[in-house]
Amino acid sequence: MSLWGGRFAGAADQRFKLFNDSLPVDFRLVQQDITGSIAWAGALKQVGVLDELEYGSLVHALNDLAENVTEEQILASGAEDIHSFVEGSLIAKVGDLGKKLHTGRSRNDQVATDLKLWCKEQGEEVLAALLKVQQQLLVLASQEAQTVLPGYTHLQRAQPVTFGHWCLAYVEMVERDLTRVSDALKRLDTCPLGSGALAGTAYNVDRQALAQALGFARASNNSLDSVSDRDHVIELCSAAATSMMHLSRLAEDMIFYNSGEAGFIELADAVTSGSSLMPQKKNPDALELIRGKSGRVYGSLVGILTTMKALPMAYNKDMQEDKEGLFDAVDTWLMCLDMTALVLEGVKVNKARSLAAAQQGYANATELADYLVSKGMPFREAHHVVGEVVLAAIEAGKALEEFTLEQMQSFSSIIDSDVYQHLTIDATLAKRVAQGGTSLDQIAKALGNQQSQEPAD
Ligand code: ARG
Repeated sequence: MSLWGGRFAGAADQRFKLFNDSLPVDFRLVQQDITGSIAWAGALKQVGVLDELEYGSLVHALNDLAENVTEEQILASGAEDIHSFVEGSLIAKVGDLGKKLHTGRSRNDQVATDLKLWCKEQGEEVLAALLKVQQQLLVLASQEAQTVLPGYTHLQRAQPVTFGHWCLAYVEMVERDLTRVSDALKRLDTCPLGSGALAGTAYNVDRQALAQALGFARASNNSLDSVSDRDHVIELCSAAATSMMHLSRLAEDMIFYNSGEAGFIELADAVTSGSSLMPQKKNPDALELIRGKSGRVYGSLVGILTTMKALPMAYNKDMQEDKEGLFDAVDTWLMCLDMTALVLEGVKVNKARSLAAAQQGYANATELADYLVSKGMPFREAHHVVGEVVLAAIEAGKALEEFTLEQMQSFSSIIDSDVYQHLTIDATLAKRVAQGGTSLDQIAKALGNQQSQEPAD
């Protein structure tokens, strides 16, 4: 049964009905719609629209529906949307009494409430999934705290770092993602129910009590804003896009580290796949998909921002387009977080290969410049001298430390035999003692800080 037949003399065109119906997308809100309906029945009892008995029967029927309804039933019902389905099912169960439930309520405050309830639940799931990824990164960081890894800028070997330090960089990114989600959850924690279609409900319901019954921190303030606000959809999509960007960078790093050329890590068989033609291949599909799926999550963000742009106050049917992108963004995000944790869990690090790579490519050139500075040469001049040493080393096919002292001194007479101890990887790492650097002490500190940190609230 349609919710709005009375005013129409003609029936809807079948093609329009298919175009207009949102059930194939919003069927996922069935539990939220029932929860919201139970709370609304309570509000109607409070203002005397329902007596105790009627309230009891409605709640009983709604609970029964919540327990027994199946996805197949919903989709086969042909209802316009999930709100029509729930109301229709209620009327089928309790008859005319069911027709009282929509008193003073609109699908506009109803859908806004349902979707916020969904966002609250899924937001918690996302927080848990982010924490799991962060936990895996911390495990790997402490396992590989001392493993040397070439650090890159411009994808050119720059300075040695440790694998632990690299992990901790992503721990920081995930930490910011956690705060973004919790922040969004705090802001969306207001209940729109009782705002009516746009002007507020004509029944003097206790909206604070209603908000609390639904687990919201408080009732929303302005009825026009309440039914037309989709900031929470935008904020979750935005947090998803940023987090996916981080996951994509992590994936890209690991794809490179896992490549035949680098070989710093080996991914587990469990998260790789083979080639139908080339028998030797073991491809990093899980990571490539994470990297690839970031695109569709960005798409959802751009989609909802564009849908909301220039919508006149208050509800417009355009807003029905909010759910498909949000559902897909959050589903994809959760899946990618889960996959990321799984990939990290099985990563094997090849310490010898990453150490060897860190030793090549003149990653200790800055150290030689700093050495000259310690002997009194201004840095800019030291930079130039070391540039000359590197050029000569490239031509000779040697590492810097393979030059004899005499050869070194031909570039600058202030170089002494103590230079060699400054050119080792250990010396390079050990010097990065300032806060946030790659020295072992700093990594231990960062690990300690993270492990003692309260989860983001
Ligand atoms: N299916 C609609 C949506 O998702 C529900 C609200 C419809 N309200 C209306 N007045 N047509 O936005």
